[in-house]
Amino acid sequence: MNKKTLGDIVRKVEQKEKFFNKKSFLDTLSYSEKIIGREKQVEELITFLLSYKRGFVVPLVSVYGRSGSGKSTITRFVCENLEGVSPCIVNLRTVKTIFGSTNLILGELGEPSLKNSHGINMAISKIKEAIISKLTREGKNFLVLVLDEFDVLFYNKRERPSDFVYKLLVLEEHLKKKGLMMSIICVSNNALSEYELDDRVRSRIGSSDVFFEPYSKEDVVKIISERIKKALTNMVDKSVVEYCAEISSHGHGDARRAIDLLRTAAEIAAKNEEKISQLHIDKASYDLQNNRIVKIISSATPQFKLVCVSLARVSYLTEEVWHSTSTIYNQYRKLLPKEVKPLTYRRISELLTEIENTGIAVSQTASKGRYGYGTRYRLTMAPGILGSIVNKGAWIMVQEEKADHEKLVQSSLYKHPGSDPMAVLAKSEIDTNWKKYVGV
Ligand SMILES: Nc1ncnc2c1ncn2[C@@H]1O[C@H](COP(=O)(O)OP(=O)(O)O)[C@@H](O)[C@H]1O
Ligand SMILES: [Mg+2]
Repeated sequence: MNKKTLGDIVRKVEQKEKFFNKKSFLDTLSYSEKIIGREKQVEELITFLLSYKRGFVVPLVSVYGRSGSGKSTITRFVCENLEGVSPCIVNLRTVKTIFGSTNLILGELGEPSLKNSHGINMAISKIKEAIISKLTREGKNFLVLVLDEFDVLFYNKRERPSDFVYKLLVLEEHLKKKGLMMSIICVSNNALSEYELDDRVRSRIGSSDVFFEPYSKEDVVKIISERIKKALTNMVDKSVVEYCAEISSHGHGDARRAIDLLRTAAEIAAKNEEKISQLHIDKASYDLQNNRIVKIISSATPQFKLVCVSLARVSYLTEEVWHSTSTIYNQYRKLLPKEVKPLTYRRISELLTEIENTGIAVSQTASKGRYGYGTRYRLTMAPGILGSIVNKGAWIMVQEEKADHEKLVQSSLYKHPGSDPMAVLAKSEIDTNWKKYVGV
């Protein structure tokens, strides 16, 4: 390398940098200063919280909705900006256990962590002391404890999140005796009442829900347009913005995905010194999806992977989009090596919920008439992407199975079934054999 090459590199980097004004506006982890819409949810939250002025608070609020619907952002915005409220906000995603959660809360309240051996009751009483001193310090009498991504506690079967909530509700009652108030806001994908909670909790929490419906495409366009104005030096064509909102949504507006997509597309465009186009969005979408799935699959259990492949295989071979839990379960049983003991139907349903929570699939509750409700799943990506990431070799075999079948369907014998009745399989026979083979 000489001075000239160094100079060339500097110019190249500067060229790329010119593209961005303030890139942090495209970071989904930093909090938005400007909230677009969501007045209804903000008003509902404030209604639940503001009653503290009359000396009464709702013990627990359940904020719920799909990923990327603005739950974390809006809850934080309200709690941090509402006069008289002392917020304590934690995200349980990283800790996953109840004891870890208590330490996270203690940390947020400025206290040191406890050891596991101290036990949960000790942790709760430390939290109580810390809350009292925080409120005294701030001269306030109302603390809002936000437990973001609370649902992670339900995925760990050894945990009893209901018990944890109960202990926190009892803590609230203790604080009340001291003239202090506290509300808990549990943020999760589904309403808290849909999770397994015991009656002691149910009877106390009532129904204080705030639902975040998925954004419409227009909302997502507004959110990303605002970010573009601040983050990029050049404007982006309206059609490109709309395309970005469209493909990031999968029918359910997801602001996080849209912002991530835009940032990745902008990086690709900057690298090539081009104006952002639909092609960059497509490339970004492919890259992001691949990276994300590789990450999820690399840390997944063998059973989780097998359920993923079951859904991918049945979607690919039947070319149908939606599949019931029982179809997926049968497929799983078919693919499971003989010597491995199968998981129960119930456990597979739980794994499907986990798969949905990673964003690999989405579900729909379909009425089966008087037989009750059944859940159906569909992949949010092409089955081949997921299948090859889980097991490339096995997926090539699935592709070959399908190619062989298609050859048979299109063979001249099938096209002219009249030519030799003995040698020809009727279409219905091919279909039946194929279905049996696929396992549906
Ligand atoms: N109404 C909104 N206005 C501006 N930005 C938003 C809005 N809703 C979501 N965002 C942005 O989208 C991203 C995802 O939002 P987030 O609150 O984390 O969603 P959730 O918690 O529901 O998964 C964040 O970067 C956030 O700043
Ligand atoms: Mg969130």
